[in-house]
Amino acid sequence: MRQKLTLITALVGAHAVLFASFSSVNATAQDNTITSEAQLKLGKLAFIRCQACHTLDAEGEHRTGPNLYGLFGATAGEKAGFDYSDALKKSQIKWSAKSLRAWLKSPSDYLPGNKMAFSGVPSDKEMAALINYLKVNTKKN
Ligand code: HEC
Repeated sequence: MRQKLTLITALVGAHAVLFASFSSVNATAQDNTITSEAQLKLGKLAFIRCQACHTLDAEGEHRTGPNLYGLFGATAGEKAGFDYSDALKKSQIKWSAKSLRAWLKSPSDYLPGNKMAFSGVPSDKEMAALINYLKVNTKKN
């Protein structure tokens, strides 16, 4: 009886391990296929943190922060009609997925003296979705 119980415990254990590894394979597959609609939805949600201060489209106005139309490939601090900090104007940052990731993770660490009052996006998954959303929605036609 005791032996039988041990065997059952071992089997249940093995099953749990197998199940766990299968579900993590599934999760990875989902993450890789999330590029399209689901990721844009997640990016749109993430952008809620930004939209009080930023617009994205060609006709968008400056708010507390500058309009971000044509962001990718642009040099930081160059939008006409917006009063940037000296730190951002002098930074020579070129906006790319990589520099945006660093900026949005923690603006004050990445560029001390800037005036974007935003603490940062902590989640990597949210960050990836946000950057993808920005890429699609700030693209010049
Ligand atoms: C409280 C207002 C506020 C929030 C919230 C905010 N920003 Fe900003 N953002 C600013 C300001 C102000 C600047 C200009 C900073 C400077 O001049 O130092 C800026 C600058 C930027 C720039 C550089 C633009 C350029 O022309 O070089 C990017 C990119 C940016 N923000 C993206 C974002 C994103 C994405 C979010 C959301 C995750 C966000 N910001 C949240 C106010 C904000």
